Amino acid sequence: MEATLFFFFANILLLSTSRASPFQSHLLLHNSDGAATAAANHLHVSQISCPSWRLAVETNNIFGWDLVPEACEDYVANYMLGCQYQEDSFAVTSIALEYAKNLTLGEDGKDIWVFDIDETALSEIDYYSQPDVAFGAKEFNETKKNEYLKEAKAPPLPAVLEFYNNLLPLGYKIVFISGTSESYREYRELNMKRAGYHTWEKLLLKQTSEHGTTSVTFKSKKRTELVEAGYRIIGNMGDQWSDITGSNVGNRTFKLPNPMYYIA
Ligand SMILES: *[C@@H]1O[C@H](CO)[C@@H](O)[C@H](O)[C@H]1NC(C)=O
Ligand SMILES: *[C@@H]1O[C@H](CO)[C@@H](O)[C@H](O)[C@H]1NC(C)=O
Ligand SMILES: *[C@@H]1O[C@H](CO)[C@@H](O)[C@H](O)[C@H]1NC(C)=O
Ligand SMILES: [Mg+2]
Repeated sequence: MEATLFFFFANILLLSTSRASPFQSHLLLHNSDGAATAAANHLHVSQISCPSWRLAVETNNIFGWDLVPEACEDYVANYMLGCQYQEDSFAVTSIALEYAKNLTLGEDGKDIWVFDIDETALSEIDYYSQPDVAFGAKEFNETKKNEYLKEAKAPPLPAVLEFYNNLLPLGYKIVFISGTSESYREYRELNMKRAGYHTWEKLLLKQTSEHGTTSVTFKSKKRTELVEAGYRIIGNMGDQWSDITGSNVGNRTFKLPNPMYYIA
């Protein structure tokens, strides 16, 4: 598989569009002959541009990566702070709303929509845009991140808040599942309320006994418990593949963009 991927990436040619692109100066590290190089997924990814890197990340072709390639820091910053990130998010939620509106729900109040929290319900752009975080191009600092979580001031991702507000009158019950530790419940709930998420059926966080389990395992377990309790997961939305893969993923899954970090 590694060899195949290597062959695949090694053979991608850079598209040399001469049309003015705001991202043209952010190709992966240029070496002397103009090719780009970067290490990702334990492979030497050759000759792929930052937009192609982002697509590979979003499609889960590149997975298990630690950091945004240094050469793509400005590209990711432009993407996250510019209108494309918001537009991409609204595209996801409008498709999801078309689907959600089109269904006839049960009378028992057991039809649920599952959401992740960070980079889904909430946006941590304020945090990630700090110079020592650099949109995920710098080493993750858990202490710093936990201090930020305690401030409970992350704004909503506008597309998702709007979608949430459209789902409620349709009769969906909302379940939030986040890998944050249960010990942060007070801060997380405060942040959600401040951001405009005023009601939910459940907000599930990681218990002490669940620390050390991967997100995909933890979230699968939570969803399975929901299904066993008689809930029907009609939709499931998150920014990580680990939010929307595993067991009992739901009738439909929706992947929001996030080129800043990867959670297994
Ligand atoms: C709406 O429901 C109909 C009937 O089940 C289906 O044919 C159609 O594809 C659905 N549209 C969307 C956007 O899901
Ligand atoms: C991590 O963040 C904390 C709190 O902001 C800071 O004191 C510490 O120096 C940081 N550690 C590193 C390695 O940057
Ligand atoms: C969801 O999937 C289940 C299992 O495949 C199916 O029985 C059910 O009809 C689906 N519900 C909707 C609303 O599509
Ligand atoms: Mg998330």
